[in-house]
Amino acid sequence: ARLFGARENSRGIEFGDDAVRDAFLDSLAQAPLPKDAALPIIGGKTLTRPTRPVLSPVDGKSSVGEVGEATAEDARAAIETCLGAFPKWSATPAGARALALEKAADALEAATPRLIALMSAEAGKTLPDGIAEVREAVDFCRYYAAEARRLFGAATILPGPTGEENRLVSRGRGVFVCISPWNFPLAIFMGQVTAALASGNCVVAKPAEQTPLIAAEAVRILHEAGIAKDALAYVPGDGTVGAALTSDPRIAGVAFTGSTETAWAINRTLAEKRGPIVPLIAETGGLNAMLVDATALGEQVADDVVLSAFRSAGQRCSALRLLLVQEDIANHMIDLVTGAAKELTLGDPAHPATDVGPIIDAEAKQAIDDYVAERRTEGRVRFESEVPRGALAGGSFVAPTVIELANARDLTREVFGPVLHVVRYKAADLDKVLDDIAASGYGLTLGIHSRIERTCKRIVERLSVGNVYVNRNMIGAIVGSQPFGGSGLSGTGPKAGGPHYLPRFALEQVISTNT
Ligand code: NAD
Ligand code: ALA
Repeated sequence: ARLFGARENSRGIEFGDDAVRDAFLDSLAQAPLPKDAALPIIGGKTLTRPTRPVLSPVDGKSSVGEVGEATAEDARAAIETCLGAFPKWSATPAGARALALEKAADALEAATPRLIALMSAEAGKTLPDGIAEVREAVDFCRYYAAEARRLFGAATILPGPTGEENRLVSRGRGVFVCISPWNFPLAIFMGQVTAALASGNCVVAKPAEQTPLIAAEAVRILHEAGIAKDALAYVPGDGTVGAALTSDPRIAGVAFTGSTETAWAINRTLAEKRGPIVPLIAETGGLNAMLVDATALGEQVADDVVLSAFRSAGQRCSALRLLLVQEDIANHMIDLVTGAAKELTLGDPAHPATDVGPIIDAEAKQAIDDYVAERRTEGRVRFESEVPRGALAGGSFVAPTVIELANARDLTREVFGPVLHVVRYKAADLDKVLDDIAASGYGLTLGIHSRIERTCKRIVERLSVGNVYVNRNMIGAIVGSQPFGGSGLSGTGPKAGGPHYLPRFALEQVISTNT
């Protein structure tokens, strides 16, 4: 093993220092919500479109701002404009593209309280989640800037016979379509867009319909930082706008993060259209498991389980969905986990004491509530906490819930919320349990709590998942240190925030010259 690319990521906020914490909370309380509607931006021009309010999931009725969605025609116009900008943007030296991303990182850092306040209102992000999200967006900008310099700065000279020079160069492919989810409305939006831009592509960015406002802020920041206005277009809208973009024969690639269902739909669209065969980078869902054997440290496991399953209200693709506990310690572990879950505070995500905020919207809440109701009828619910009442009664809150299943195969789909499933297993059945996990077809994250190295190795070797966490929690991958992404039903790779990500956005060319 060797250390690769030592560098520094963004810094956190020292909440242990009362003065720092109070100043931060003050600036958060005073941060204004966006005055201008989020409207399509194409070639630097803001279009006028009918608007609707974006309602906050915190109470279900406050308007956070207005969005005016793009039409399918706007989507096509955005591709046209970006195509026109491509020759100039792709010829812009990698160092200049990198510099713009570094300026964007500085601007994001400077705007931290405003961005967190907006994400808290628009997406229900708690303060720790908001801080982590801005930091991840900043880290993506700086990491991809450094990667652009490393990969696109100069040609690589390859060996050849005397009298011949072989130069390998990488450059942008053309217009990349970036389609992002609502659960990391800043970090994933910025991550996809900055990777594509850093690699020399122009970008048409479509955020999730639930979170257009924070994405509009991100685009403004990128344009002000020096990303050419015609090289980055913003087209808010739902899946129909996404489909208009992905079905366009002129696009050069798609970076998508979201559900496995939508990735299948995009794959079909790409396969059916005429035109060049283009790459799809898809990061999708997971049925993520954690195995806990009898050698694990109970209190640490309980902490890690509660964080992995319930942080961000379970709305992380990386979140723990299925806890497999060795039978001998299962009752004790379930007591510890439910005891710790009971201590979680649900409520207004902008309040510093809140651990769990709302689910993204009423529709998502209903789907999870229906699922839990079914499991309740089957007598499988072991624990449910309480949702907030009073002023937040209209918010889309879902109580952290623990459900016991007889078999890992009984969990057949991703429940995207604070719902943890527990299954007991006998030590002698470990191989069968590993087969059951593998049978889901997903391969995103995996947790292991065991003090036996041989067991850890055996589990890691058997399961093909993207990110494995041993004796710790299993969320919050760090850019540059824990490149993130899975395989199978969880996506195509390559890993975001890792050294192999940018090359997938680029075109390689070899120039062999007889000298
Ligand atoms: P989603 O699939 O419903 O939507 C994602 C995006 O796709 C949105 O912008 C949506 O408008 C767009 N879209 C929908 N239909 C489309 C179509 N036919 N063509 C083109 N675009 C279309 O997902 P979501 O609910 O926003 O996000 C939650 C999901 O994302 C979960 O499954 C979660 O596991 C996954 N996720 C994965 C990662 C990862 O890195 N692997 C990270 C975050 C979220
Ligand atoms: N990158 C996010 C995490 O690791 C999804 O939790």
